Amino acid sequence: MRALHETARKTLDPVRYDYVAGGAGEERVLADNERAFDRYALLPRVLRGSGTRDTSAALPGAPRTAPVLVAPTAFHRLVHRDGERATARAAAAEGAVLVTGTAATTAVRDVVAAAREAAPDPAVWFQLYPHPRREVTAALVRRAEDAGCTALVVTVDSPVFGRHTRDLRNGFTDLPPGYAAENMRGLPGTGPDALTDIPMSPAARWPDLTETLRGTSLPVLLKGVLHPDDARLAVEHGAAGVIVSNHGGRQCDAVPAALDCLPAVAGAVAGRVPVLLDGGVRRGSDVAVALALGAAAAGVGRPVVWGLAAEGETGVRRVLAALREEYDHTLALCGGRRNADLTADMVVRKGGTW
Ligand code: FNR
Repeated sequence: MRALHETARKTLDPVRYDYVAGGAGEERVLADNERAFDRYALLPRVLRGSGTRDTSAALPGAPRTAPVLVAPTAFHRLVHRDGERATARAAAAEGAVLVTGTAATTAVRDVVAAAREAAPDPAVWFQLYPHPRREVTAALVRRAEDAGCTALVVTVDSPVFGRHTRDLRNGFTDLPPGYAAENMRGLPGTGPDALTDIPMSPAARWPDLTETLRGTSLPVLLKGVLHPDDARLAVEHGAAGVIVSNHGGRQCDAVPAALDCLPAVAGAVAGRVPVLLDGGVRRGSDVAVALALGAAAAGVGRPVVWGLAAEGETGVRRVLAALREEYDHTLALCGGRRNADLTADMVVRKGGTW
């Protein structure tokens, strides 16, 4: 995986590399997301042997899926000409959920069609930011439904844009000519700006979520939840899942590492809906730690983009396969047969006592 990142760094135009690699502010949260995994160790159980393992996870709209999913990342055609189509084929072939979204450079119907080329029944979720105009949100939801997406992901950690230091320094604030947010094309009441400028909704509130839920029969997950009280509210409002995420360190640069927020959120949700985590997941043992601390699955953002930039579809497949295989191996070493065999008592703080 390091090698793919290195190839991507060498291949990509430095401004585009920075767009993907960078974070908000001084990039403290970006760094902490990865470091958080170094603070934990796994405490295996022994003599619980089993010749076979089942690492599938049950998620909304994806009843038997890999425990590693592709987190939504914007503008895949910026890093590879095949863009989201390649990511979709790779995720489907590896049995992983792909979260595509508003900021994709390929329309959602084409993304789902590409996934179907690789697997008969792929799970593609659609991520959206609450749009200031309700009719635009509703139209996006309809596009996702018509395309065959099996769940929606509403990102709630972005009432305003994050200040991405590298992009500001590089003057990278608009999509280059030739690229567009294809899902915004021709939506009611939106002008040509919608294709390059997806507005945030600083005024969004819980009733807006209720409205989105009422307007769709798809399960809706909330992405970007860090506070346990918000996780409780999400469940009470009818969310089908909660994604613990700080947007890969691209929003508020003073929040905890995503992993450090997971135990309290999992406690608040108390098994009522699946809890997912993304941010800093780089190896199969990171997936194991996240699952032991209460996640049903772990998302990866940048590693997938590096795989795509370096080797297109093959690179994304390599990233997802490596994470899945490493995770399966770690599960075996920890005496587990199923994901649920990894429990919170099997994770310890390094250097601490237990
Ligand atoms: C993102 N992320 C993101 N999230 C979201 O909800 N909608 C989006 O459009 C994007 N776009 C985006 C672009 C890029 C280049 C990155 C790196 C990230 C956040 C993403 O879903 C996820 O939360 C993080 O990427 C997870 O952290 P890691 O795996 O990159 O450390």
